[in-house]
Amino acid sequence: MRTIVISGASRGIGLNIAHRELKAGNRISIGIRDLESVKGSVIDPNNWPKEKLLINKYDALDKFSAIEWVENTINKFGSFDTLINCSGVLSKVPFLYKDRDEEEIVNTFNINFLAIWKLCRLSWEHLIQSNNGRIVVLVSMSGKRSKGDLAAYSSSKFALMSLCQTMKNKGWEENIRVTAICPSWVNTKMAEKISSLEKSKMSQPEDIAEICSTILKLPMQSVPFEIALNCNYEI
Ligand SMILES: NC(=O)c1ccc[n+]([C@@H]2O[C@H](COP(=O)([O-])OP(=O)(O)OC[C@H]3O[C@@H](n4cnc5c(N)ncnc54)[C@H](OP(=O)(O)O)[C@@H]3O)[C@@H](O)[C@H]2O)c1
Repeated sequence: MRTIVISGASRGIGLNIAHRELKAGNRISIGIRDLESVKGSVIDPNNWPKEKLLINKYDALDKFSAIEWVENTINKFGSFDTLINCSGVLSKVPFLYKDRDEEEIVNTFNINFLAIWKLCRLSWEHLIQSNNGRIVVLVSMSGKRSKGDLAAYSSSKFALMSLCQTMKNKGWEENIRVTAICPSWVNTKMAEKISSLEKSKMSQPEDIAEICSTILKLPMQSVPFEIALNCNYEI
């Protein structure tokens, strides 16, 4: 059984991962902005044993909420061995941005990069103590190559990818394994905002949950660092 901290589990990929891991019998601590948002969903706390599920307030833009979330998780479960980062925002701000776009660029970096760094940093000692720690990060194909002109989003994801590589190096001897999942389009609210691809032709959030579940089950010596998946052909 793993004890898993998951950000961005109010919907989309994070929600699917949280649901799948709960069904698998793991203990889950989720961090979401609006505690009401999971009521009536597949992870509605009323439908799961209290000892299995903790729902915390977490806003990536709030300086203190990651600290409180990690503390609450330790107070409830005593320890945790897995951190899955699914929170993220899309930004369409291009390379030739307008002055008024600067705030959005900073917010995009704060949510997609700095907040994840902070959460990983706060979790680090707990993951070391588990002696079998895992960090999974939803990066993106946009963190591997820049397609079109999504300068703010893509740059934040490249920075995140670099962080994943650093964490992989730093965690190796401590028995922490890091995986960066890099999908192209996944059928969620985020993709809806920007892709005209038919939903059924996109990767599905359940597919990402399946990949994540496999990563968590693999022995330490076989955990992949990077999983890149394209739903459509790219040169
Ligand atoms: N969908 C795709 O095509 C795709 C492709 C590649 C990578 N990804 C990455 O996969 C991850 C999950 O995306 P998704 O497709 O599941 O998108 P989504 O449905 O839009 O979900 C995004 C999640 O991030 C949370 N979030 C946003 N801002 C936050 C903040 N300030 N503090 C805390 N949580 C915040 C949202 O919570 P709220 O409900 O509070 O807004 C939501 O739970 C993201 O990092 C995304 O960049 C997605």
